[in-house]
Amino acid sequence: MQQTFLKNFKRGAFFAISLLFLLCIALFSACAPLSSDSSSSSGSGGTEPVGDPTLLRTAYADYFRIGAAVTTDNVKTYDSLLPHFNSVTAEWEMKWRVSEPSQGEFDFSAGDELVAWAQAHDTAVRGHCLLWYKSLPSWVSEACTDKETALSIIDEHVRETVKHYGDDVYCWDVANEVLDGTVYSSALEEDAPADAIWRTGDDEEFEQGEIDWYEICGEDFLKQAFRSAELALEEIGAEDVQLFYNDYSLNDPNKREACVRLVEMLREDGIRIDGVGMQAHYGLQTYLKDKEGFMKNFEDSVRRFTSLGLDVHITELDIRVYGSSSEPQAFDSLPYELEVAQAEMYGKIFEVCRKYSTPQGEGYGVVSSVTTWGVADDHTSQDTSAHKEYPLIFGVDHDYKRTYYELMAI
Ligand code: GLA
Repeated sequence: MQQTFLKNFKRGAFFAISLLFLLCIALFSACAPLSSDSSSSSGSGGTEPVGDPTLLRTAYADYFRIGAAVTTDNVKTYDSLLPHFNSVTAEWEMKWRVSEPSQGEFDFSAGDELVAWAQAHDTAVRGHCLLWYKSLPSWVSEACTDKETALSIIDEHVRETVKHYGDDVYCWDVANEVLDGTVYSSALEEDAPADAIWRTGDDEEFEQGEIDWYEICGEDFLKQAFRSAELALEEIGAEDVQLFYNDYSLNDPNKREACVRLVEMLREDGIRIDGVGMQAHYGLQTYLKDKEGFMKNFEDSVRRFTSLGLDVHITELDIRVYGSSSEPQAFDSLPYELEVAQAEMYGKIFEVCRKYSTPQGEGYGVVSSVTTWGVADDHTSQDTSAHKEYPLIFGVDHDYKRTYYELMAI
């Protein structure tokens, strides 16, 4: 009798311990997306938060708008992810090639479609972009034969576009990438030629249909674009719409200073500029080589621009994981180590943006919008002919990458 009781007791205890063990495993798996366990890599489409995920737009509501570049087509495919964003940028729909395909004949239908989608989804729109050397219809470079003609063509395009969208957008990238791709320190010296900081001349190859605005107009093309935008906003009483200069590599100290000169140049002529857009197409390998140096340069730029009373928008953030565009494809899904490192880098960038979302001094501007160039890794402009990239917050299968959890945790 006693023996049977002991036997049953042992069996029962064994059963209870096993049950407890199984329960622990189940609990651990449920928490895995938030843990640092390498077995739960989401690179090839793993994780989904349990229950309703906290939206990025909610988590960052007290800091800045959270945006993504989209197209009229892909807004339909990102149903599950777009609620995270409260700002969108048109990837193509508002660019010159689309909106003024023939001189004086405007077609805003694609941009309007996106604005309608945004308004129906309680989402704001960043206007992008009024003047660029790329993405132009072929008539522009043919018609801009002299400075006077070029300036009046810019004036008409900018005015009509700004007036059409009015305050359906909260800002415009008035000019995109007018600075030289790389600005060398020699270009900033006092005796440097006037064109040294500009995207112009032999050092920059302009492809068919692209245009060297500086060669035709000198710096007046930039002044014209900003002045026309400002006047158009005044005309329609939409002065709240902010006017931005947008470029890449503005974390680089030389390019930062070149950008400051553009701002000063406009202000000397009494022309309004409200902010600087740092595109932020970054490389993970650059960050990993010198994390502190990278973050210092980034923060120095944010501080410098905001100290001028300008707002800063991060306009095209994405983080490539390969070291160069020609590196052959080395994996079919994002390796765990790279996903973790990428999440860390995103987190550091967001930390700086959060810090500067409140003014750091009197008269300082703030970081008021952070946009990624795309929604998820299945659609990114960073893919090359050599490999697929994984630069965004969400994965190829619209899964939640570690970056999402990092942005929630910081
Ligand atoms: C630049 C432009 C964007 C977009 C990207 C593509 O950064 O500003 O509009 O075309 O290139 O990577």
